[in-house]
Amino acid sequence: MEELFEKIKEAYDIVEVVSNYVRLKKVGRNFVGICPFHSEKTPSFVVSPEKQIFKCFGCGEAGDVVNFYMKVNGLTFKEALLELAEKAGIYIEEKVFSEKKRENELVGLAYKVAKFYNHLLFFHPGAEEAREYFKERGLSEDTIKQFLLGFAPQEGRVLTSYLRTSKEDFKAAEELGLIRQVQDGSFVDLFRFRVIFPVFNLKGECVGFAGRTLLKEDEPKYLNTPESKIYKKSEILYGLYQAKEYIKKEKTCFLVEGYFDFLSLWEAGIRNVVATCGTALTTSHVKILKGLTEEIILLYDGDEAGKKAMVRAVSLFIKEGILPKCVSLPEGEDPDSFVRKGSLDRAYFMEKIKELTQDGVSFVVACYQEMFRQNSSKAYREIIEVFQGIEDPILRKKIAKELSFRLDLPETEILRSLTTRGRSDKTRVFIPSCDNNSTETKEDSCLKMIAQYLVSYPEDLGILEEAGLLKYLEGCFSKYALFLKKLTEGLKKEPGKLPDISDPEFQTILSDLLFSPSFENREEVLNDIKTFIHKSLIKLELKKLAENIKNLETIGAKEEKDQCLCLLKTTLISKIDGLNRIDKLTK
Ligand code: CTP
Ligand code: MN
Repeated sequence: MEELFEKIKEAYDIVEVVSNYVRLKKVGRNFVGICPFHSEKTPSFVVSPEKQIFKCFGCGEAGDVVNFYMKVNGLTFKEALLELAEKAGIYIEEKVFSEKKRENELVGLAYKVAKFYNHLLFFHPGAEEAREYFKERGLSEDTIKQFLLGFAPQEGRVLTSYLRTSKEDFKAAEELGLIRQVQDGSFVDLFRFRVIFPVFNLKGECVGFAGRTLLKEDEPKYLNTPESKIYKKSEILYGLYQAKEYIKKEKTCFLVEGYFDFLSLWEAGIRNVVATCGTALTTSHVKILKGLTEEIILLYDGDEAGKKAMVRAVSLFIKEGILPKCVSLPEGEDPDSFVRKGSLDRAYFMEKIKELTQDGVSFVVACYQEMFRQNSSKAYREIIEVFQGIEDPILRKKIAKELSFRLDLPETEILRSLTTRGRSDKTRVFIPSCDNNSTETKEDSCLKMIAQYLVSYPEDLGILEEAGLLKYLEGCFSKYALFLKKLTEGLKKEPGKLPDISDPEFQTILSDLLFSPSFENREEVLNDIKTFIHKSLIKLELKKLAENIKNLETIGAKEEKDQCLCLLKTTLISKIDGLNRIDKLTK
């Protein structure tokens, strides 16, 4: 994979590739154009032919040629690599190739199965009930055809015999979870007496299935095919393939949780909608949606569970820089029942929805109202946790302002809570930071500065290593820390040369840094960095000692504790000397 990545970067000129999607104009050493990743009127999208990277100064997207190709076409990193390799006639290793071939076989078979179940819905003698069911739930024949909805009969070996007579690959069907082998060695179908929803990926390939039971008391209500080579549930949104053009056009997207919620909205003419299928929302889902629009409207069930899931979703979106809107449906309603109450009229539905829509902040605060009355500190902590981790300072300020208004607390206080690591969260890793009123952003900006420095002067790796960079990074797991770990590893292999690492996140950060202006005073920055690392390491050590003492205290080991205290004392003295020395040095 690494090798392929390097070959592709050699084979392509980023300016040529981008030109296929963006009209570029030469300005100085760079090219500029209108950004394809967000809507803008004045061009802030810049391509550097020298460095072979791009960056948008409007939305912050950045990366190399593979990154660009991947994002602009909505592909995964691997897909982008393979497509680019094919176009350039680059030889692809046998293994990668056969993997891709297998994936093609699987989606091919999945599509045939979807067609088969869809055919049964119309022609199987036992399908009357299923057709009646779809009718009852308000779905037209058009929608059924568009989504290739189907029917799996009661018999239980219908798919297996179809696969046998049409000489299909049993292993593939088994791999997709559509059939399974039973004790006597024969195969049986997964779905029995269910209506079938095929699931498509962004390219319109069939990758998975869900089946809803037609019997009231049957469990589970929904049965899903498992994850497979082609079905990654965390990355698939139901209906996205069909809805994506509508989402782009409307510039907003409704997010629902159920298959029928999606289909009923679609039937009513609301087409800028997608659903998570059989899994909770993930960061990958959020990232995919972010590529289409930043206006998200969460539309979950009106019960407690729906509200809880919506708060969780707000938190996920916030971490990607989006504050979604939230619709509170009346208790007992879900989007499907709600839209059908309005007798499938789009205008009426939109009107009603508008009345029930709140911005994410007021929705979350409202959800905690009850808890606030009983235990306001706990409620406050939980609300803050929802909105923690916002990188964009403007959004953070906006949210702090809104929270300050809703909670009647000073904005500065909230800003501080938003940027301080939650102390109650024990699973978080301790990260030493540069000074006492430690904020996540301050540490991040120090790490970013180090990354920027090392990208500009890779030859200084030795100096930073000597200052203890690697030791400091050991306990850090933030975005820039991970970037720095990879960068230093690469620089060690080939000193002085920025490494070609086939990781889109790495490339994005690298390109972003390469576009940032260089330091005016290299010496000064280097000194600052050294000081930061020194101080952080000292603090880390002191903190460890302090924790040790505390632990010994709780288990009552007096002697050890005294020893430890003694050690702390000498360490403190030497460290204070050290700090003074650093301060003198850097003054
Ligand atoms: N789901 C699932 N497995 C289950 C139950 C639910 O995968 N056993 C998923 C399905 O994607 C379903 C969604 O969660 O569409 C929402 O579930 P729920 O609210 O329980 O069902 P509804 O969508 O209201 O189902 P229906 O209207 O068909 O009764
Ligand atoms: Mn429902």
